[in-house]
Amino acid sequence: MIKLTVNGAERSFDGDPDMPLLWYLRDELGLTGTKFGCGAALCGACTIHLGGTAVRGCVTPISAAEGQAVVTIEGLSPDGNHPVQVAWRDLNVSQCGYCQCGQMMQAASLLMDTPKPTEAQIDEAMSGNLCRCGTYPRIRAAIHQAAGQGSAAAPANKGERL
Ligand code: FES
Ligand code: FES
Repeated sequence: MIKLTVNGAERSFDGDPDMPLLWYLRDELGLTGTKFGCGAALCGACTIHLGGTAVRGCVTPISAAEGQAVVTIEGLSPDGNHPVQVAWRDLNVSQCGYCQCGQMMQAASLLMDTPKPTEAQIDEAMSGNLCRCGTYPRIRAAIHQAAGQGSAAAPANKGERL
């Protein structure tokens, strides 16, 4: 029996300990904000927090969550107003939206560890989160806003990878 908390609620799981945590969150708990993209730790769409650190749910076995706190986008804030979520809305970061929950979870993890990240630190932290819509400039601007560093207008060239 694996015991864990998900978004503050105590849970237990009695199935295959090797099952990806992503499957448990989406299929067992119905927390579908966390997305499946590549299934191979290559895109970041499945990013969640495990024990306060951003991990890829698609390659993390549920056994790794034993005794740990899991947070998904649904639990990032009680009211959807985490600074990252506010900044994402303010700057209309999302395009199709598919990658964005993972992007926000990665960004929130970055800001927990590094409240005032430099450009290089943002690049490093976000480099594993891909966006096929090319929203990278707005993601960068939103992270700066969430960090309280102002909301410099996102560059117009949406497709450019900074
Ligand atoms: S679905 Fe997990 S990294 Fe792509
Ligand atoms: S907003 Fe479409 S993949 Fe990122």
